[in-house]
Amino acid sequence: MKKVYIRTFGCQMNEYDSDRMADLLAATEGLERASHPEDADLILLNTCSVREKAQEKVFSDLGTLRELKNARPDLLIGVGGCVASQEGQAIVRRAPYVDLVFGPQTLHRLPDLIAARRASGQPQVDIRFPEIEKFDALPPPRVSGPSAYVSIMEGCSKYCSFCVVPYTRGEEVSRPFDEVIAEVAGLAEAGVCEVTLLGQNVNAWHAPLDPAAQALGLPARADFALLLEHVAAIPGIERIRFTTSHPREFGQRLIDAYARLPQLVPHVHLPVQSGSDRILAAMKRGYTRLEYLSIIRRLRAARPDICIASDFIVGFPGETEADFDATLKLVSEVGFDASYNFIYSARPGTPAASLSDDTPREVKVERQRRLQALLDAQASAISATMLDTVQRVLVEGPARRDPGELAGRTANNRVVNFTAPPHLHATLMRGYTQVRITHVRAHSLRGEWITPQSESADTALHALAAHRTPPAP
Ligand code: SAM
Ligand code: F3S
Repeated sequence: MKKVYIRTFGCQMNEYDSDRMADLLAATEGLERASHPEDADLILLNTCSVREKAQEKVFSDLGTLRELKNARPDLLIGVGGCVASQEGQAIVRRAPYVDLVFGPQTLHRLPDLIAARRASGQPQVDIRFPEIEKFDALPPPRVSGPSAYVSIMEGCSKYCSFCVVPYTRGEEVSRPFDEVIAEVAGLAEAGVCEVTLLGQNVNAWHAPLDPAAQALGLPARADFALLLEHVAAIPGIERIRFTTSHPREFGQRLIDAYARLPQLVPHVHLPVQSGSDRILAAMKRGYTRLEYLSIIRRLRAARPDICIASDFIVGFPGETEADFDATLKLVSEVGFDASYNFIYSARPGTPAASLSDDTPREVKVERQRRLQALLDAQASAISATMLDTVQRVLVEGPARRDPGELAGRTANNRVVNFTAPPHLHATLMRGYTQVRITHVRAHSLRGEWITPQSESADTALHALAAHRTPPAP
């Protein structure tokens, strides 16, 4: 059987897209997924251009693949994702041995592009943004475990001044309500009990509802809170995650959903980027630090045990020591869970790329180090409160380091490696179970399986809520 090898860079959206490419190529070309590029007949790089480093990695990888292609001229090489979208034809000029270039919105055209490449002998480039036709052309996702990603929207229309995504993935387009619900219901029937709804700003999702739905009392237009309610009502879906959300559209209806829907996990990824109003305005984020803190305060009122993860950019052009201190102060006020912290990377074509940037690199690196130390300490403090508590985990499979143990995920998104009687492994696999946390480590937890008990509360998170004082409004 012929094989495809897919290397994924960047975010969860890209991971999702890579899985969909694999599903599509299995259905149309009969391609099986290879674990190593050397075994493949088709190699695809699904790329990321959000920071320069990720973009450069693609070109160094392509250099290595050239040798494989020289040895096996039949091998096809494709470049997809955001670098493809940004560079288009320039990729073929820089690396003429590349056969296919396609964007995040044209990956469903891969079979056509492969056929055209074979027929013409010429590299094929298609990086258009045809409106959402991608999902109509893709087969239903294959299920490979108890949790699954579901893309609910594509693109981004926020145009933050530093970010390349609106240019590489196009404007925000929501998938229709019925389609999302049908996909989740199909996954649930196939045994999925945890879904992660994906998009650059999932809380901007909205869709018109048809007259039949309105006759049942639903509004003419559904928002993200309503979508969550309907996903939560699907039998078998016990946990709902989503990523990423944007503070600008994190309205009261969504906050209230946390009080109403127990399926929503007590963990949210809400990028803030900076704690300085001056920098937030220069980034065109559309909110102030006070507005961000107000969302956090109301979220914690709705769900006292919620953990807040975030993204930060340090060294944005013009960021002073006072601006950076404001970020550190915001972090201290909120008490974040494990978060990402990036040094600003100028992206060609974005408005911020033309701003003068006189902060020395060493200063930026030092700021990143200081911020990371604070974020790590806060995430560790949350983990520490989980010691000796009983957690409900979704068992994902054998532990990576020790296949004699199992690995599961807590509601607040931590991996727990735990021991359980070997004769129970098959039964426990791919369902929820209770684990007592016995050790807390920097990036994971250890635990032991305990006999199921009637109460299902994630006790640690309640303990955590009791210890925390809410931030100032
Ligand atoms: N939709 C998300 C939001 O609400 O901000 C962000 C998606 S973006 C692809 C992921 C993260 O990459 C951002 O939150 C930001 O921290 C980071 N990022 C984006 N552009 C960047 C740049 N030019 N330099 C450094 N980090 C960047
Ligand atoms: Fe990028 Fe801002 Fe959208 S960070 S993905 S333009 S919300």
